Amino acid sequence: MPIRQVPEYPDQAALAAMEGKVARFPPLVFAGECERLKAGLADAAAGRAFVLQGGDCAESFADFNTNAIRDTFKVLLQMAVVLTFGAGTPVVKLGRMAGQFAKPRSSDSETVDGVTLPSYRGDIINGAAFTPEARNPDPQRMEFAYLQSASTLNLLRAFATGGFADLHQVHRWNLEFVNRSPLADQYEGLARRIDETLGFMAACGMNSDNAPQIRETAFYTSHESLLLPYEEALTRESSTHHRTYACSAHFLWIGDRTRQADGAHVEFLRGVANPIGMKVGPSMEAADLLRLIEILNPANEPGRLTLISRMGAAKVAEKLAPLVRAVEGAGRKVVWLCDPMHGNTTTQAGYKTRDFTAIMDEVRGFFDVLRGEGATPGGVHVEMTGRNVTECTGGAHGLTAADLGENYATFCDPRLNAEQSLELAFLIAEELKAQRPVHALARAAQ
Ligand code: PEP
Ligand code: CO
Repeated sequence: MPIRQVPEYPDQAALAAMEGKVARFPPLVFAGECERLKAGLADAAAGRAFVLQGGDCAESFADFNTNAIRDTFKVLLQMAVVLTFGAGTPVVKLGRMAGQFAKPRSSDSETVDGVTLPSYRGDIINGAAFTPEARNPDPQRMEFAYLQSASTLNLLRAFATGGFADLHQVHRWNLEFVNRSPLADQYEGLARRIDETLGFMAACGMNSDNAPQIRETAFYTSHESLLLPYEEALTRESSTHHRTYACSAHFLWIGDRTRQADGAHVEFLRGVANPIGMKVGPSMEAADLLRLIEILNPANEPGRLTLISRMGAAKVAEKLAPLVRAVEGAGRKVVWLCDPMHGNTTTQAGYKTRDFTAIMDEVRGFFDVLRGEGATPGGVHVEMTGRNVTECTGGAHGLTAADLGENYATFCDPRLNAEQSLELAFLIAEELKAQRPVHALARAAQ
């Protein structure tokens, strides 16, 4: 099939050898987990849960360490607890983690001072340094990407079920630098109410020892399904589920640049049974979207397909409404997610950035559109990190363009820092509280 965004490996024999090697590696996820996630996503499609998908734009080999994984996980737990407790809704937690290495680029090459080299496409393909050696696509990189993914996933599983995610730890998830922020009081207030609730539940006989829901959480992984040689090598037939699964992560999505109905990326994801996503940008037309839905989810299986809207704050009302109307009108069951990051990228003071106000505006606009069309806002998809970075302007600390240079650490797009992520979660909890009848019950109980 025609394929876009594909790296040109100079050494095809080395590529074939690596594909063979990866094909012998154990799968990273199990079909039963993918099906459980699909059931959670079906709940979100029906308004019984909310999806929180977040993590780095691009994971990197250089930034591979315990603290980075732990801190991003902590912030995702904090955001989830704000949504669960604040809005009374179960949260499906989906990291852009443990495999988010391949990046689509708007240009195949980059020119600096008259020198033209291939663009950086993510650590699984080539290196970010502007040298011919680094920019050469190297299949050996797939092996380390696999090993880093396995190791990251192992730690995430340990955190999710080993006691770290126990609701009694809610105070400990706060990162030290967030303690100095205006969001700290708001979070502490919520954490105290959770403590009280846990005390009440313990008095009623429910505690971490006898209620696993308090002690552990389900956490899933996801990334863009871009590098097909790697993805195909990790695709396996499940002996228990008798279907074919992409086993590099629980959930894979198709990017906005590779969603051609007759293209290779759509063809690949069409054939796997995982829950999958597709980015939907402002150039999407309703007829094309319906055709893609028919290809990707012909059986209209709930939870199978998530549409990730990334229109930009200025366009969301105009561009998203006709798409939602068409999909709902056709009776198609999808999860609608809002990615308020990728349509709001600008350049300021020489840095690629996003303003927190635009991000919040797109989230609000998304809720308004879905509500206006009688559809369900299913969740959010954000680029964020647990590190105290200065990559997006605005937020409670009022970061300005002049602050961006202080700690600008991303390998690709600008991420929300821990504090901005938490602020966004509080905003979304308010939106959810305001709109869903089910949450009236949760509010009455508070
Ligand atoms: C991304 O999610 O990092 C990305 C490249 O998004 P999109 O495909 O929506 O541009
Ligand atoms: Co990005």
